[in-house]
Amino acid sequence: MREPAAELLAWYDRHGRELPWRVGPAARARGARPDPYHVWLSEVMLQQTTAAAVRGYFHRFTTLWPTVEALAAAEDGRVMGEWAGLGYYARARNLLKCARVIAEEHGGRFPETAEELRRLPGIGPYTAAAIAAIAFDRPETVVDGNVERVMARLHDIRTPLPAAKPELTARAAEMTPRARPGCYAQAVMDLGATICTPKRPACGLCPWREGCRGRLAGTAPELPAKTPK
Ligand code: ADE
Repeated sequence: MREPAAELLAWYDRHGRELPWRVGPAARARGARPDPYHVWLSEVMLQQTTAAAVRGYFHRFTTLWPTVEALAAAEDGRVMGEWAGLGYYARARNLLKCARVIAEEHGGRFPETAEELRRLPGIGPYTAAAIAAIAFDRPETVVDGNVERVMARLHDIRTPLPAAKPELTARAAEMTPRARPGCYAQAVMDLGATICTPKRPACGLCPWREGCRGRLAGTAPELPAKTPK
């Protein structure tokens, strides 16, 4: 049997979601890489917003401002107006601040490591890891709610959240491959969004079904456990 990461990457190449900020499997096979500006913009928009809702906003932003330098030169009010409806307006203000730092201090190019990315306005540990992995293929581990759920089920980790976070993060890190970490990160997100869903996971379709300890134990649909409020 293949390594779990290789199994998931093969699934991603066939069943990964087509999203406007991604490079599809055919272009990927030709060596195409996603635009770091697109990766950053989509990751900021996707914080607390679904991929379906982000699509239209992403399209309008990249049409109006095709590069980070164009966005940096935009009027604040115009950007805030286009952001309307996405909510969490601090994100939009930080987006502009970050675009201006990239344009003015980095010559319009995104830094490539998570450590440098984290120093930019509005970029926390999650977003820094996501950009480094997806745009620059750095072997960073990207942990969001989807990834926590998938790891809790795969390893049958019954410790409730938030106490389980360090263990879930460690498991996620152990599994991250050196090859194609960006595709891997997005593959785990897609698995969590389409198969390993919070309710009624579609285990029969899962590329990890055979090794999934939560499925074998029958605990998967209830995981991750949460400490009652
Ligand atoms: N949620 C956060 N980042 C994502 C990505 N790159 N693809 C799909 N969903 C996401």
